[in-house]
Amino acid sequence: MFTLILLAAAGSAYAAEPAPRFVGAPGCASAMCHGGAGDLRHQTTIWQKQDIHSRTYNTLVNARSAQIVAALKTPDATTSARCTSCHAPFHEVPPGLVLNPIDFKTGVSCESCHGPAERWLRPHTRTDFSHADRVTAGLRDLRNLYVRANTCVACHQTVDNDIVAAGHPELLFELDGQAVAQPRHWREKGDWHGPRAWFVGQAVALREMSWQLAREKNPDEKLHARWAALLWLLQTAEAAGVSPKALAGLPTEAAPANFTRTQESADKLARDLADAEWTADTTAKLLRQFAKTAADFNDPKLKPAAHARRAERLVLALDRLLTGSDPVALLKAEPHLTRLFQLAQSLPDFEPGAFGKTLELLAGAVP
Ligand code: HEC
Ligand code: HEC
Ligand code: HEC
Repeated sequence: MFTLILLAAAGSAYAAEPAPRFVGAPGCASAMCHGGAGDLRHQTTIWQKQDIHSRTYNTLVNARSAQIVAALKTPDATTSARCTSCHAPFHEVPPGLVLNPIDFKTGVSCESCHGPAERWLRPHTRTDFSHADRVTAGLRDLRNLYVRANTCVACHQTVDNDIVAAGHPELLFELDGQAVAQPRHWREKGDWHGPRAWFVGQAVALREMSWQLAREKNPDEKLHARWAALLWLLQTAEAAGVSPKALAGLPTEAAPANFTRTQESADKLARDLADAEWTADTTAKLLRQFAKTAADFNDPKLKPAAHARRAERLVLALDRLLTGSDPVALLKAEPHLTRLFQLAQSLPDFEPGAFGKTLELLAGAVP
């Protein structure tokens, strides 16, 4: 699926022309460009030495991968598109779309995120070439949160249920936390607000989960529970009154029409939020809204598993919002947040009551 996204994104700006081709990471890595020393030219060094994306192929030869492919009855993780599409994406790019042969063992490399460079490689070094000019030439506009979320989510949310059942980690996309966790080879332009990135990322994750569920004949129960929890979380976020109400009232029953409507609404929400004004007050309002949800963990109609899935998403949200708040708020709330993380850790013995009580303590600590 990722290749389709990669190729569709690559072709979209030039629908009438052939898709631009990939040049490969060595094309970016000369010392005068992104392979040098110093803050402006050290992108390749950071990627190679610190960023797991340069080693995603290696994962396919480890023992856990061997177990996963054995369970799936797939002969080899390193050549199966079911694994390489995310761990070694160049394995899936047809020869006609690369300028030079690209070693797919380089993993997730520059153009996997920035887009195929054929049309912008030369001109983007000119000093009179603006960011907008580069984007017109096909460089992906990763400064735009919606574009960035779409880029990361292509590999960070949707994995087939049988792959998860075979032992692959469940994927949970969270743009803010994962953007901070990726070793930074750039300086963030404009006003970066982690909580806004969190919100855009969650809306995009909901869209992708809706898309996956809408395609399943018998929607996977676990995935449906995770989807319903995320929809609940974002409906709660919308109730804070800091965003358009795109998801209000959407039903959570497993039905194709519900998934399709949510997919469209979540996409609209993500687009709107990417350009939304954001201040410290916006973050504070969201935080207060989430801190008030203790009663939602006291709903007798919901199964404990459904509560657990809500808790799983909520703790991550609280973590990102508190991290993006003032240090005093974070300090006061931290012990309760740590406890919430502990309570949400094990799905099978999740206790909604204890979680709700701790949430009330946290609400008392939030200004
Ligand atoms: C949709 C993209 C995607 C696909 C398809 C995918 N993976 Fe992954 N895989 C990931 C991501 C992202 C992580 C990191 C998850 C995390 O840390 O939470 C990961 C983590 C892993 C891990 C755990 C990390 C480690 O070092 O042990 C293994 C093993 C793995 N993948 C193997 C596979 C195999 C084998 C396949 C094919 C059957 C596969 N993956 C298919 C995206 C994918
Ligand atoms: C996993 C995704 C990903 C990969 C892989 C990746 N980048 Fe980036 N890169 C980003 C994001 C996100 C940004 C920040 C947004 C922006 O400035 O465009 C960025 C920013 C940049 C910038 C702008 C730096 C600045 O401060 O203005 C350069 C240059 C760059 N990347 C080069 C590279 C090179 C060269 C490679 C390969 C060695 C690479 N990137 C690999 C995601 C990625
Ligand atoms: C072409 C697929 C691909 C794209 C695009 C991609 N990643 Fe990843 N990423 C992976 C895979 C595969 C792993 C798992 C690494 C492993 O253990 O093998 C991973 C791991 C990570 C990790 C470490 C594990 C985790 O989940 O915390 C972070 C952080 C991360 N990616 C952030 C990002 C961000 C931010 C973006 C977008 C700017 C992005 N990635 C885009 C494939 C991708």
